Amino acid sequence: MSENNLSVPIARDIGGLRAAVRNWRRQGLRIALVPTMGALHAGHLALAQEARKRAERTVVSIFVNPAQFAPNEDFARYPRNLESDRAILQNAGSADLIYAPGAADLYPDGFATRIVVDGPARGLESDFRGHFFTGVATVVAKLFVQCRPDFAMFGEKDYQQLLVVRRLSIDLDLGVDVIGVPTVRESDGLALSSRNAYLGPEQRTIAGALNRVLDSVAERARAGVSIPQAEAEGAAALISAGFDRVDYVAVRDAWSLAHLPAFTGPARVLAAARIGNLRLIDNKPV
Ligand code: PAJ
Repeated sequence: MSENNLSVPIARDIGGLRAAVRNWRRQGLRIALVPTMGALHAGHLALAQEARKRAERTVVSIFVNPAQFAPNEDFARYPRNLESDRAILQNAGSADLIYAPGAADLYPDGFATRIVVDGPARGLESDFRGHFFTGVATVVAKLFVQCRPDFAMFGEKDYQQLLVVRRLSIDLDLGVDVIGVPTVRESDGLALSSRNAYLGPEQRTIAGALNRVLDSVAERARAGVSIPQAEAEGAAALISAGFDRVDYVAVRDAWSLAHLPAFTGPARVLAAARIGNLRLIDNKPV
């Protein structure tokens, strides 16, 4: 068999995706979707591996979604390499189909519909990236409708996104069970991210402080320090570690992301901070 025959098949348009899904459905197989923007790393593979446990077939979608980038963000230079992503999935043995649509499959001429999520989408990332969750919700709703999976896997790395997508699936009766997968980290705890490739060596050392600061904020909140104080200490610690700017350090309700008067039930500490013009986000349970 040629190497090509062994490679994970790629559907490049909705027709190809639907044909594969229809065939699997006829056989009574369950389907999981792993939406990504490519530049795959071990974090994405953890999602695909979790998908394997729940469903007989896994689709990994790869689409760099223009609608979730602001004009000043890195859409043009976001890493794109379909063949190396395909090889990564092939080696991991964790995908049955790659769905790599063109922009016209998601945004046909005259496209004029947007999905706006409130609730968990309010605040945090939305305070700094105004249209981000509308861009994410719109593309994810479309991917769900195009693929009609039983499950979709999302990383806890983007915790607010996970809650937004779960809300979206429930509110629009999309019938997709949205599963959260724990964050995969480097040995110093830095969460894997496609954008880590932009970090120089000195910046990489600074970046490693983010997860440690989150741990210490969680510990302080658990120890009974007031939430505003724990948050302020966390922001100060990030600046001392070398971050140039802190967008937020926030302890919130783990399910609604609502503000908490005090630490009582399940909570999450979330942060976003910048080194130069690179913005890092991470979060931990409290
Ligand atoms: P992307 O950044 O490619 O991430 C795809 C999925 O991988 C997301 O669910 C994200 O949370 C998860 N992920 C990223 N890094 C991770 C890590 N270190 N550990 C575990 N999971 C990790 O998020 C997006 O793409 C887009 O917004 C998308 C949902 C595809 C919509 O365009």
